[in-house]
Amino acid sequence: MEQELKHIETQEEIALAEKKARKILTSLGGWKRTHTCGELTSDDLGKEVCLMGWVQYRRDHGGLIFIDLRDRMGLTQVVFSPEHNKIAHEQAHVLRPEYVLAIKGKVRKRPEGMENPKLVTGEIEVVVLEWKLLNLSKTPPFLIEDRIDVSENIRLKYRYLDLRRKKLRENIVFRHKASQSIRNFLNSNGFLEIETPFLTKSTPEGARDFLVPSRLHQGKFFALPQSPQLFKQLLMIGGMERYYQIVKCFRDEDLRADRQPEFTQIDMEMSFVEEDDVIEIAENMIHALLKDTLDMEVSLPFPRMKYSEAMDKYGLDRPDTRFELFLHDITHVVRGSNFRLFAKAPLVKALKVPGGAVLSRKEIDELTEYVKIFGAQGLAWIKIKEDEWQSPIVKFLSEEEKNGIQQILGLEVGDIVFFQAASPEVVNDALGNLRVRLGHRFDLIDDSKFNFIWIEDFPLFEYNSDEKRWEACHHPFTSPKQEDIDILLKEPEKARARAYDLVLNGNEIGGGSIRIHSYDVQMKMFEALNIDKDEAEEKFGFLLEALKYGAPPHGGIAFGFDRIIMLLLNAKSIREVIPFPKTQKGACLLTDAPSYVENRQLRELGIRLRKTKKD
Ligand code: AMO
Repeated sequence: MEQELKHIETQEEIALAEKKARKILTSLGGWKRTHTCGELTSDDLGKEVCLMGWVQYRRDHGGLIFIDLRDRMGLTQVVFSPEHNKIAHEQAHVLRPEYVLAIKGKVRKRPEGMENPKLVTGEIEVVVLEWKLLNLSKTPPFLIEDRIDVSENIRLKYRYLDLRRKKLRENIVFRHKASQSIRNFLNSNGFLEIETPFLTKSTPEGARDFLVPSRLHQGKFFALPQSPQLFKQLLMIGGMERYYQIVKCFRDEDLRADRQPEFTQIDMEMSFVEEDDVIEIAENMIHALLKDTLDMEVSLPFPRMKYSEAMDKYGLDRPDTRFELFLHDITHVVRGSNFRLFAKAPLVKALKVPGGAVLSRKEIDELTEYVKIFGAQGLAWIKIKEDEWQSPIVKFLSEEEKNGIQQILGLEVGDIVFFQAASPEVVNDALGNLRVRLGHRFDLIDDSKFNFIWIEDFPLFEYNSDEKRWEACHHPFTSPKQEDIDILLKEPEKARARAYDLVLNGNEIGGGSIRIHSYDVQMKMFEALNIDKDEAEEKFGFLLEALKYGAPPHGGIAFGFDRIIMLLLNAKSIREVIPFPKTQKGACLLTDAPSYVENRQLRELGIRLRKTKKD
């Protein structure tokens, strides 16, 4: 069928149609919808119905005008025929994409051969008896269709039009179902949904705070919460026992495909629990979520892996366990090597890719650039050929070293091996991320799989070499293992945390811990973090005081809600599952935020902007 809309109209034609349309523009005038556009079937033949929605397509065909009328629930074919109402048919010529209308009409069978098996409503059409034009629309900047060739920036600027597209609408509906499932599960397991403040004091979760200046207390600032961490602990001290919240969190950090400056957590906390109690509830919640949204049964319990094993084998604390390529430590084999880089580096690891020798020089160069993102200086490699090892570095390796590598990796003709020699952080990060990239390159990853895995036994601290101090690996309220409390100050590097992360297909989807509920241990923790008594009082005095009033043992977890939805839908970016996301640069193209404010507003807040060089 010819689609009239593909015909590009002249400005004059558009203006004329618009002029005519404006004349018949009217209001609902008491009309009520009887059905949605996604539900009428052959069971409804002969019924008189009232539908409302937007024009998806208009086609003129043999004296009849066909409209695909769209609402949130679907599409229904609507026919304007001069036989049924001559004026109504005549007026329908003004209709253009995205015009809004209401129709009253009769359901009839589509003519033989004109059915559309892809639509629920594909067997019927509604022949119009009366209709009302409720609003006009400018020609949208992109077609309201699934496959569109338009930049993401345009989609974000016109997000309300983007939301009309089926794909995005389905994502939002899915998100709604997911939050309902989570609420149902937690409500029926004794959790209370409790709100916590947004205008609050900074809670350290490792990112920068978004600050809000106070007008009433000039010079002072609120911080938007990076998470409700401290409030949920206070709720436990307040005797609420089981808390949850599906809540916005705010972090001013570098953005990636799976990060937003404001994102949503499923945040929960429980009293009188240990690690396994939190893990069990969390697993059951995820189980219910997959059942309710995808009708999928995941088997419980989820496997668990120690942090140290994840780092050894996968190089990352969020291992993608869908494919079996592993990192191997070859430091001991190359310790005395003539290749100085290998001989001197604190850690040398190798990653074998079976069949990887097909990689071209250009591809290897691209991979070398890729690992530089993670701090690597370069990327050494060896291709295993029929009669030789081909590589720029092979001449530096002795027979003994080659044998050692062969023994550890079990190399075969056609393989490629990548090496990294540097600090453990760089080696693991570079090879761990390279492993994932190669998994995709060589099609080793089964996209239909959902591999959940718990990572446990995290270190309590990590060393920040830039700032030369120990930082909490999770956050400073995470309890050390009981047996490690005495070594917090003496051997912080050995202390382990009562923390756990849940990983899905190589993405960290949740993290939590058992908390410190003793004032003394919390103070010791601050001491280990080089936070002195005064600073601790100033920043966290309210928590420290609360810990003195019978704080129960407690723990919890928070899940990245947007991330989970993204992964369940196999979406490319977190922005595809958020109604109004920010760009990679942290801006909102729809509202043009952030924006300048008036001097008057700044004066009220007691703020004067520093002049930048540009001014
Ligand atoms: P954490 O900082 O690990 O823990 O955050 C929990 C989960 O939130 C998600 N997440 C994000 N998602 C999108 N954009 C971001 N910028 C972003 N940052 C984090 C991740 C992560 O696993 N208070 C603790 C929880 C606790 O201890 O109970 C916390 O916030 O999926």
